[in-house]
Amino acid sequence: MNKGIFYITTPIYYVNDKPHIGHAYTTVAADILARWHKQKGDEVFFLTGTDEHGAKVAESAKKANKLPQQFCDENSQLFRNAFDNLNLSYDYFIRTTDKRHEEAVAKFMQKLFDQGDIYEGTYEGLYCTGCEDFITEKELVEGKCPDHLKVPEKISEKNYFFKLTNYLSQVKEMIEKDEIRIQPEDKKKEALGLFKQDLTDFSVSRENVEWGIPLPFDKSQVTYVWVEALQNYISAIGYGDDRQNFEKWWQNPFHIMAKDILKFHCVYWPALLLAVGEKPPKQLFLHGFFSINGQKMSKSIGNVIDPNDLVAKYGADATRYLLISQFPFGQDGDIKQEKFDEQFNSDLANGLGNIVSRVANLIELSEGKIIPKGSDKLSDRISDDVSRLKFHDAIKTIFTVISELNGELQKEKPWEMPSDSEERVKFLERVASELLSVSKAIWPFMPDTAKQIEERFSAKKITKGKPLFPRI
Ligand code: MSP
Repeated sequence: MNKGIFYITTPIYYVNDKPHIGHAYTTVAADILARWHKQKGDEVFFLTGTDEHGAKVAESAKKANKLPQQFCDENSQLFRNAFDNLNLSYDYFIRTTDKRHEEAVAKFMQKLFDQGDIYEGTYEGLYCTGCEDFITEKELVEGKCPDHLKVPEKISEKNYFFKLTNYLSQVKEMIEKDEIRIQPEDKKKEALGLFKQDLTDFSVSRENVEWGIPLPFDKSQVTYVWVEALQNYISAIGYGDDRQNFEKWWQNPFHIMAKDILKFHCVYWPALLLAVGEKPPKQLFLHGFFSINGQKMSKSIGNVIDPNDLVAKYGADATRYLLISQFPFGQDGDIKQEKFDEQFNSDLANGLGNIVSRVANLIELSEGKIIPKGSDKLSDRISDDVSRLKFHDAIKTIFTVISELNGELQKEKPWEMPSDSEERVKFLERVASELLSVSKAIWPFMPDTAKQIEERFSAKKITKGKPLFPRI
C-alpha cells in the first residue's frame, strides 16, 4: 500500500435539488475517513462537489425560471453551505461547470476518439431523466422507471458510443483480483454479477441536450453527463493540466458512494480509465441506502430531511454522530428522526457531556494538582474498524468506554472524598486522562467536541466550562 498518500472522494451531487441527509451521510463518512487518515499522519486530499450538467438539471432550472448557470451557482452553493455547516474538511469542492473540468473532459474525450474507442451510432430506446440513464424495457415496472416512478422518454438520436466491450474482461479480472477493490463483499459480488448480463457499448454523448460539455470532435453533441461527471475525480487533481499532481493523488484513490451508482463506478469508470491508459480506481466502497420511517426519502412523500435543520437543532457534531450511529455503514438501514432527541440526550447530553462536565467540575473543586495525560490506546483500539469503515463499531467502542467511566464515577463517588485526598486526585486524574484519550479517538467523528474536551483537560487551570451538549 502507498501509505502516506490518501485521496478520498464522494459522488458529486446533482444540483437539481437542495442537499438532503443522503448527501450529508456519504460526505460525513468520507470526512471521518479523511480526518482519520490525517490524524495518523497521511497526506490527504478530500474531494467533493456538484454535478451540474444534463437534462435533469436543465429541466429543473427551467421550472425555476432561471438560466441553468445561475440555477447551478445557487444550488451548488447550498451544498457547500450544508457541508460547511457539518464541519466537513474537504480540500476541494469541484463543480462540473468549472472551466478546468470542462477542459480536462474535452481532452479525455478527444483522446478516446483519436484512438478509435469512440464510434458513431444511433441510440434508439428509453431514457430516464431522473436516473440520467438509458433504461431497458426489462427494467421497467408497469411501464415506469422503478426508482423515479415515471414513464421514460423514448429517444432516437445520433450518439457516439464507447467500446466498453473491449475492456470488460480486463475490468472483471481486476475486480476479481482486488486490483480494483470493491467493498463490502456483497457489493463486489453485485459488481461481478453485472458482467454476466449483456453489457453493451454505451452512449457517451447526447444529441438533443444542450446543457453539457460539447464533444471536442463534434460540437453538435454534448458529453453524456455521467461520462463527464466521473471524470471529476481526475480533473480535480490535474488530469489534463498538472500531470505531477495527478500522479501523486491517483496512486491511491478511494471512492465512497451508495450502491445506487455501482454500475457507473465499478464498470464504466474503470473501463474508461483503462481506455485512456490510466489506472482504474484502487478502492471503492459502496454503502447502503437508508429509508425514513420505513419509506423511501422523497419529495413527493414529503419526508426529506434537510441537514441544516439537524445542525440548527443539535449542532454539527451531534448531527454527524446521529447520522453515522444509526446502523452499520455499508448496510441498508432506517432512520427514525423522532428518536434523535432521545439518543441525543442519552448518549451525548447524559453520556459524554455529563462525564466531561462533572469530572472537570470536580477537578476545579479539588485542591491537589491534577495533570491528566491522554494516550493512543483507545484510538489504536478503533483503528482497525475505522480503516474498514466500520464506523458503527468504532463509535460503539468509544461510547462503551464513556458509559463505563460514567459508571465508575457513580460507584466511586469522588465528590464524597475529601477535596485534597490522594485518592480523589488519583481517581480524577485517571478519568480525565481517559477522557483525553476519548477526545483523540472521537476526533474524526466529532472534531469540535474533541477539541473542546482536549482544551478543557489540558488547560493550566481546569474548570467546569459550558456543557458540551445541553439537554433537549
Ligand atoms: N451525480 C450523480 C453522481 C455522480 S458521481 C461521478 C448522483 N448524484 S445524487 O445527487 O443523486 O447523489 C447520489 C448519492 O447520494 C448516493 O450515491 C449516496 O452517496 C447519496 N445518497 C442519496 N440518497 C441516499 C440515501 N437515501 N441513503 C444513502 N445515501 C444516499 O448520483
